Amino acid sequence: MKFDLLSRSSPGRRVEWFTSIDSTMNEAARLAREGCPSGTIVGADEQTAGIGRHGHSWHSEPGAGLYISFVLRLALDSDALPVVMLALGLATQQAIAEATGLAPDLRWPNDVLLDGKKCAGVLAQFEGDAVIAGIGINVHHASFPPDLAPIATSLHLAGACGVSREPLLAALVRAVDDSCKILTVIGPVAIRSGFTRASSYATGRRVRVEQDDGFLEGVTAGLDPSGFLLLRLDNGTETKILAGGVRPV
Ligand code: BTN
Repeated sequence: MKFDLLSRSSPGRRVEWFTSIDSTMNEAARLAREGCPSGTIVGADEQTAGIGRHGHSWHSEPGAGLYISFVLRLALDSDALPVVMLALGLATQQAIAEATGLAPDLRWPNDVLLDGKKCAGVLAQFEGDAVIAGIGINVHHASFPPDLAPIATSLHLAGACGVSREPLLAALVRAVDDSCKILTVIGPVAIRSGFTRASSYATGRRVRVEQDDGFLEGVTAGLDPSGFLLLRLDNGTETKILAGGVRPV
């Protein structure tokens, strides 16, 4: 992996790159505790224990994906995390569109989709007062293990065969910077409305939401002020979705 494009578009940024690491989230959290500057990036060609949401692992085939964690010092309260996730999803969608010409969809809270399958995911957690923002993008994968094949895709499989990771990384860093600026300068309302425009799942979509104790089915009705998904159930009541896997019906 070369960084010429990134150092031109983002001079002075601290980038720590690993050939192989357990998870970029752990190293980014460690650097955050040491006091690294906001915007610091930890990336790896391979993760041996990539972390996904809800305790899942993140399939991190060597050299095939972009596996990045950002340390972001945004001076936000801990209840801002859902909107930060939306901001990062928007940034990832934008970077993929810019680097490939494809038009990814967004599925609340953080799935980036091509052809209805997941090509990228976002994870955000606090470490002290810093947000550790992990982004995984499937770039060159030609296939996935059987359990993931029905639900995962890559930029390559979706038609962007010639894309390389370096311009995608430079576009992602720009897009994350822009999204964070929108969040901190204009405010969460701009991120919520950007997400609502950019996601076919945000309003009027019949979905099933898988939860620990079963599932809910209804029609999406936008986002609440904190960035949680609103779901109109068939009995006419509206409920707030705090977590869970959203799937089309
Ligand atoms: C999800 O489950 O959708 C979130 C996936 C986040 C994966 C990225 S890859 C870079 C960073 N390091 C990790 O271990 N996870 C995140």
